[in-house]
Amino acid sequence: MIRIAVVGAGGWGKNLVRNYFQIAEADLRYVCDLDEKRLEAAESQFPGIRTTSDFDALLLDTELDAVVIATSAPTHYSLAKRALLANKDVYVEKPFVLDVAEAKELIKLAEDRERILMVGHLLEYHPVVEKLREMIKSGELGDIYYVYSQRLNLGTVRQDENALWNFAPHDISSILFLLGKEPVDIAARGQSYLRDGVEDVVFFTLTFADNSMANIHVSWLDPHKVRKLTIVGSNKMAVFDDLEATEKLRIYDKGAEFATDYDSYAEYVGLRFGDVTIPYIKSGEPLRTECMHFLDCIRDRTQPLSDGYDGLRVVKVLDAAQRSLKNNGVPVLLD
Ligand SMILES: NC(=O)c1ccc[n+]([C@@H]2O[C@H](COP(=O)([O-])OP(=O)(O)OC[C@H]3O[C@@H](n4cnc5c(N)ncnc54)[C@H](O)[C@@H]3O)[C@@H](O)[C@H]2O)c1
Repeated sequence: MIRIAVVGAGGWGKNLVRNYFQIAEADLRYVCDLDEKRLEAAESQFPGIRTTSDFDALLLDTELDAVVIATSAPTHYSLAKRALLANKDVYVEKPFVLDVAEAKELIKLAEDRERILMVGHLLEYHPVVEKLREMIKSGELGDIYYVYSQRLNLGTVRQDENALWNFAPHDISSILFLLGKEPVDIAARGQSYLRDGVEDVVFFTLTFADNSMANIHVSWLDPHKVRKLTIVGSNKMAVFDDLEATEKLRIYDKGAEFATDYDSYAEYVGLRFGDVTIPYIKSGEPLRTECMHFLDCIRDRTQPLSDGYDGLRVVKVLDAAQRSLKNNGVPVLLD
C-alpha cells in the first residue's frame, strides 16, 4: 500500500482526492488545504479521511511515501521542493513550475535523492492521444505538416496566472508528446481585457526545425467551449474533439497528391477525398490512468512518462511564449 497525501483540495484537487481514495493500492493518508471549508467538504464526501492545513507537519510523517500537489501554480515550486527535501516522491499538477531554473532545480533534487518526480500532464494519459501517437509513429498519417489546438471557454478567470500558463500546458505537453520533438522558436500574441497584465486570450505558434508547425489558441473569454486538436499529415488528417462523448477521434483519408504525368499545375497537385473513420477507443478516466501510473512508478522505482524533464520541456515553451507575448509576438528562439 502506498501512502499518499493530496495537497490542495480545490476545483481540481478534489478529483485527485477522489481517485486516491478509491484506488485500492493507495492509502490516502492526508488531505491538506489552507481553506477549512475545502477540508470540511472533503471530510463529508470521503468519511474517515484525515485532514490538515499544516503541510510541513505532514512531511514529518516518516511513513508517508508520496505527496500530490494540486495547489495554485505559484506555490508548486516551494511545496515540491520541501516534499523532495523530506524524501517524498512527488507529483505536481500542471504547470510544473513558473520558471525554467526552478524546474531544473527540482529535477536535480529528485535525482540526487532518488525520488520519483511526476508532472500532471493529463492528456499524455488520454486513450485518444495514445492512439494518435501510435498512428503518427506507424506513419499512418504520413509526415505531419502542422497541428492546431483550441482550448476555449467562457470559464474561470484566474488572477494569479494568465490563460497561457493555465490552459496551454495541456496543449503543449500533448503536442510535444505526439510529435516527439521540440520547437526551435515560438511566437505569441495575446491580450488582457479583464485584468491588466493577465492575458485572457493567447494565440501562439511553435515552429520546428523541419518546418512543421503547431498553433495553439487558449482563452477563458470565448462564447464556445472547445477542446479540439487537428493534425494535418501528408497521408491523412485527424481531429480529436474531447467534448464528444464517445466518438472523440475522426480520421480523414484526405490530402493532396502529386501527379507524375501532368500538363498544368492544377493537374500536378490533385486533391484526394476518401473515407472518414471513427476508430474504436476504449473509454476510461485519464486521471485514473495517470494516478495509477504514479503509483506504479513509486512501487517499481521507474521514471514516469510525464517526468520532470517533460515538465521542463513544457515550462521552456511557456516561458518563451510569455517572452514573445511581452514583446508583441517577436519570435523567441529556444536553445
Ligand atoms: N490536470 C488538469 O486537467 C487540471 C485541471 C484544472 C486545474 N489543474 C491544476 O490544478 C492546480 C489547482 O487548480 P484548482 O483549479 O484546483 O485551483 P483552486 O484554486 O480551486 O484550488 C487550489 C487549492 O489549493 C489550496 N492551497 C493553496 N496554497 C496551499 C498551501 N500552501 N497548502 C495547502 N493548500 C493550499 C487552496 O486553498 C485551494 O483550495 C493548478 O495547478 C491547476 O493548473 C489541473
